[in-house]
Amino acid sequence: MKIGILTSGGDCAGLNAVMRAIGLYIYRNIKNAEIVGFQNGYVGLIKGECKPLRKEDFEGLLDAGGTMLGTNRTPFKQMTVPEEDGITRLDKMCANYKKLGLDCLFTLGGAGTHRTAALLCAEGCNVIGLPKTIDNDIYGTDFTFGFHTAVDVAAEAIERVRTTADSHGRTILVEVMGNKAGWLTLYAGIAGGADAILLPEIPFNIDKVCECVRNTYRAGKRSCIIAVAEGAIVDAEAPYKKKERAFVRVDRGETTVTAHLAEVIGEQTGFETRSTVLGYIQRGGSPSAYDKVFCTRLGSYAGRLAAEGRFGVTVAVCGNKITFNALADIAGRYKLVDPAAEIVAAAEGIGICLGR
Ligand code: F6P
Repeated sequence: MKIGILTSGGDCAGLNAVMRAIGLYIYRNIKNAEIVGFQNGYVGLIKGECKPLRKEDFEGLLDAGGTMLGTNRTPFKQMTVPEEDGITRLDKMCANYKKLGLDCLFTLGGAGTHRTAALLCAEGCNVIGLPKTIDNDIYGTDFTFGFHTAVDVAAEAIERVRTTADSHGRTILVEVMGNKAGWLTLYAGIAGGADAILLPEIPFNIDKVCECVRNTYRAGKRSCIIAVAEGAIVDAEAPYKKKERAFVRVDRGETTVTAHLAEVIGEQTGFETRSTVLGYIQRGGSPSAYDKVFCTRLGSYAGRLAAEGRFGVTVAVCGNKITFNALADIAGRYKLVDPAAEIVAAAEGIGICLGR
C-alpha cells in the first residue's frame, strides 16, 4: 500500500505528533507499506514533490512543533482555476496522485484543506482527513488538534499580562487568534481569568465593555483584562461585510479591532489602557500533553481506517469517542461558538462580560 501525507494551512502544535502516529501505525500494521510526504501542503502534490518517509523518519516527532513537511495556504477557490499551462491545480494533483501510484492520501488541515480534500475524493482519490487548527472551528468534531495547546499558551499569556496590569493599575486587551470562530479566545479567556471576553460570534457593545471595566475597579481589582478575538466585531460594525469592516480599519491603520478599542476604552473610562497581540506564539512550540494523547489517538485511528480501506472520511472526536465523518458532510462547514451555549452561560454566569 502506497500512502501520501501532506499538511496544509496554518500550522499548529501537534502536526508532527499526528504524522508520527499515522506512520507508526501503518508500518506496524500494513504489510509492504510505503509512505511519501508532500512538501508544503497541496503545493507539493500539485508539483509532484514528495520524499520517502521511512519508519525511522517518524520516530522522535512527538514533541516536535511545526510540521516536518512544511505547509502552505492554497485557497480552495484556486484549485479549479487553470494555471498558465491551462491545467487546473486539481487536475495536476489527481494526475500526480495516479502517477505516483498512491493508494491513499492523508490530509492534515483546517476547513479549507477539507474542502480541497473533498474535491480530490470526488475525483476518485482515496483521502482521509485529519482536523487541524488552533481555531477549533471545523464542523463535525468537538475538538481539533492544536487547539488545546494554543489554549494553554494563550491562557498562560493572559495570566502573565494580569500581573503587569496589576502593577500599573491598567486595563489590558489581549488579542487572541481566531477570525471566524472565538473558541480559542473563549477557552483561554476563561482559563486565564479574563474579566471580559469578546468574540466574533457575539458583536460587542462598547458601552457594556466600558461598564465592565469600571465595575472591575469598583470591585477592588487593580486591573481589568479583556481577551479579544482578532475577529471580534463591535455591534455598530456588525451589519457590514468583513471587507467593509477591514476598509474602515485600514483607514485607521489597523488590521484588527484591538488597538482602536484600547484607545476608546481608555478615553471613555479614564483608566490607563494598553493592548498586546499574542500572535504566532499560539501556533508554535511542542504540543501539550493533552494534544500529544489526542494526536496519537487521531493518527492511529486514521491509520486503521486506511488499513480497513475506509476513505472519503475525516477523523473526529465526538463526546471523547474517536470516530469519523464523511468529507462531503464536513467540507466548507464551520463550527462557531453558539451565543446560547452552556460554556457561554457559564462564563456570563460568574460575571465575565461578553460585551452584551
Ligand atoms: O487558521 C489558524 C490561524 O492561526 C488563525 O487563527 C489566524 O487568523 C490565521 O491562521 C493566520 O493566518 P496566517 O498564518 O496565514 O497569517
